[in-house]
Amino acid sequence: MQPTIVRTNTAELYDAYVMKNYPRAALTLTRGAGVSVWDDTGREYLDFTSGIAVCALGHCHPVWVEAIRQQAGQLNHVSNVFRNPLQGELARRLVQQAGPGRVFMANSGAEANEGLLKLARLHGIRKSGEEGKCYKVICAKMAFHGRTFGGMSATLQEKIQKGFRPLLSGFAFGELNDLASFAELVDDQTAAIFVETVQGEGGIKPCTDEFLWGLRQLCDRHNLLLMLDEVQCGIGRTGDFFAFQHSGVRADAIGMAKGLGGGFPIGAFWAAEKHADLFTPGSHGSTFGGGPLGCAAALAVLDTLEREGLIAKVRANGAVWKAQLEKLVTEFPQHVKAVTGRGYMLGLVLQSEPPPYLAALREEGLLVPAAGGNTLRLLPPLIATPEHLNRATEILRTVLRKKA
Ligand SMILES: Cc1ncc(COP(=O)(O)O)c(C=O)c1O
Repeated sequence: MQPTIVRTNTAELYDAYVMKNYPRAALTLTRGAGVSVWDDTGREYLDFTSGIAVCALGHCHPVWVEAIRQQAGQLNHVSNVFRNPLQGELARRLVQQAGPGRVFMANSGAEANEGLLKLARLHGIRKSGEEGKCYKVICAKMAFHGRTFGGMSATLQEKIQKGFRPLLSGFAFGELNDLASFAELVDDQTAAIFVETVQGEGGIKPCTDEFLWGLRQLCDRHNLLLMLDEVQCGIGRTGDFFAFQHSGVRADAIGMAKGLGGGFPIGAFWAAEKHADLFTPGSHGSTFGGGPLGCAAALAVLDTLEREGLIAKVRANGAVWKAQLEKLVTEFPQHVKAVTGRGYMLGLVLQSEPPPYLAALREEGLLVPAAGGNTLRLLPPLIATPEHLNRATEILRTVLRKKA
């Protein structure tokens, strides 16, 4: 039997019953396929939001759909007090990408990062020999690490922290890509450095290779964990499995989510072998994390990325696309300042605030999210072809021309 979905009064239901925590677009999406989504009037849009970097395989990829369908009919959920056949395999695949170590499965990016912050605390105890002595984590200004208390505490943005203080103590903030500003914050209480390899919400701002290498050396010198938030930029989005792989730097721990499940909620963190034993039985847990359905979805994503060679395509197509988008900077300097990022995680930095552009793009059939620093984020599904990318560029050009 098909589930009943009421489609007629969605806006009224949201108005009456849904928390008003999102400034939501007046758009109800009811169907997706590949790179397209359709609204409740049947209008098609090119979806360069991808559920904010989630739908790696686009919408309703047949391999992903079948993996979930089959798993739902076989074993839908078991507790982590037992093994299931998929969690170990998913962990193995992530270790293959990240390096020797171990993986903990959670349900979201914030939870993955929360695990990293707990790892930092445990490392601090190992380092200092005492609880509460070494627990400081140095993060970057304008980063975004999630909405839990740990995530908010690591996120120095008024719009995220306002209303929720007092937050956790022990966070300090340096300037992204300014190594000296991080180095001067390190003291005996410092346990870890935690940065997004590419800031997403902050406006598609990548760490430079020199900065990442500098952080690595700083961490080695002071016995700190280098923890990378790859929740948005990981799982192929920048044209490498993890964005930091571009630099060749080695991480001590990595947070991931979003693209990993391709639309099924799953998060995970990896810790290098040397640190993975910091978690002992009873020290961390999750009811849903690593359940068979989420793992089946994630394995379908990883299999498809590999089988279709999608990450190499993202790297190659993304480079060509970035060069095309850069022409918009010269064509429309009154609107566009710069193009940032790599692969399918690009930012169009505008001269003014994004909302009027978002609305105009929607009118022309292109959905994109905004980010900090007056940036339009361009996050197509990793299955997007050069034709999809060209269509999006043309829509952008049309909108910019109309606004000229
Ligand atoms: C870099 C980064 N870290 C953490 C998060 C939080 O992830 P979630 O919303 O799944 O909790 C996000 C979400 O946008 C993110 O972009």
